[in-house]
Amino acid sequence: MDFKTQAAGTGGLCALAADALLVLVCGDGVPKDLPEPLAGTLKAALKDGDLQAKPGQALYLHGVAGVKAARVVFAVAGDGRGKALRKALAAGIGAVKGGGSKSLAVAFAGAQPDEAAGEAVAVVAAEALYVYRETKPSAPPASKLASLRVVCEKEQAKAVEAGLQRGQALADGIALARECANRPGNHCTPSHLAAQAKALAKSHGLKVEVLERKDCEKLGMGSFLAVAQGSDEPPKFIVASYHGGRKGDAPIVLVGKGITFDSGGISIKPAAEMDEMKFDMGGAASVLGTLRAVAQAKAKVNLVGIIPACENLPSGRSVKPGDVVKSLSGQTIEVLNTDAEGRLILCDALTYAERLKPAVVVDIATLTGACVIALGHHRSGLFSSDDALAAELLAAGERALDPAWRMPLDEEYDEALKSHFADMGNVGGRAGGAITAAMFLKRFTAKLNWAHLDIAGTAWRSGAAKGATGRPVALLTHFVLGRAG
Ligand code: BES
Ligand code: MN
Ligand code: ZN
Repeated sequence: MDFKTQAAGTGGLCALAADALLVLVCGDGVPKDLPEPLAGTLKAALKDGDLQAKPGQALYLHGVAGVKAARVVFAVAGDGRGKALRKALAAGIGAVKGGGSKSLAVAFAGAQPDEAAGEAVAVVAAEALYVYRETKPSAPPASKLASLRVVCEKEQAKAVEAGLQRGQALADGIALARECANRPGNHCTPSHLAAQAKALAKSHGLKVEVLERKDCEKLGMGSFLAVAQGSDEPPKFIVASYHGGRKGDAPIVLVGKGITFDSGGISIKPAAEMDEMKFDMGGAASVLGTLRAVAQAKAKVNLVGIIPACENLPSGRSVKPGDVVKSLSGQTIEVLNTDAEGRLILCDALTYAERLKPAVVVDIATLTGACVIALGHHRSGLFSSDDALAAELLAAGERALDPAWRMPLDEEYDEALKSHFADMGNVGGRAGGAITAAMFLKRFTAKLNWAHLDIAGTAWRSGAAKGATGRPVALLTHFVLGRAG
């Protein structure tokens, strides 16, 4: 999809050369700057009850007399910003995408588009047009749409263009995350994730290092390797760096859970919906997606992505309940439940992050079913002992419309992790399961400025629209760009 701005020109909206015209109706009633016959048509549609004045409602019309574009869509956009704008764009693009239009003009009536509006257009359009076809080449294309123009005055053009460009970077990052996460476990293996990181390095100028099993053994990553040992698929510990900042600038480090399939291991999961555990590398996918978006936006910042990647399977070599393993930090862990594997691979990655002397470390993981119970599918769980960092991440989530919600880390929750046979157990019990998982990770972050995002409820959708969402690439990218200034 090609995004640009375009002036309305002397003939105005009605004379615009495009296959389809999307009019975003902002403010109350019929916007004063909407020319005839569009204004009269909209007025009648509202009056006759064919279009409700509620953000996200849209009306498709074919062949409006006096309008050059063959198709006109009115979409109600509230104040023309934020969530209301996204809803209107999604509805409007949804109404034309399946038809014959190759070009779409997007016009704001009753408001002026700004940088954020440009970003929203690019992100929503890309989201609407994404189709998974890696293992289903027969999937029909989402659309014939190939070009999109945001109609705006000369004065806004620069800001909107900048927004479109940032939106394109964000959209490409989100698409990479979705594409990785949607691939089935027999395609998206730890080796495949490593190959993806290497491909990204080549296309976007990153540096990548992949630690093999023997490298991890030498370092002493006993916890990560305990999870990996049950599978024949070789584990990969991936470190990908983007250098956009100054040489000595402390990097932002993102750590993504890369379980390419989570059967639960010896503590095996029930069969129903186990297929969805191919998405258990959603954290890793979001790290790759964010690296791509940040590199494409040429942000002046140093960013490192760390991905511990392996499968969690039962076999004769698997780690067993009751086994005690030694983590890279030196702390010992009693593996009481092999299905609590995410924290076992993340703890060694967090300890590894120390050597990068990071400004901040954020881990991202589809970590607990308990987080889904607590927050559902709308907000990701955010944990941090640092109030300023928590506020920064929450604000990034709001700006990006990829929201999170802060959860507690009181020391009282740590009690649950006591073990008779090791420094800690790897599970707390059912109560507050998302919190005790975060408390486990906290034990490995004493030397770090750290936050944890539990994306178990937000990384993918189940049911009819089953698939990866690309979250929280938008939150993370806004967070990183915010730090780049
Ligand atoms: N990958 C799962 C978490 C998960 C479950 C994500 C459902 C999305 C939907 C994780 O590895 C896991 O199995 N967690 C266990 C922890 C428990 C054994 C303490 C869980 O949530 O049941
Ligand atoms: Mn598990
Ligand atoms: Zn898991």
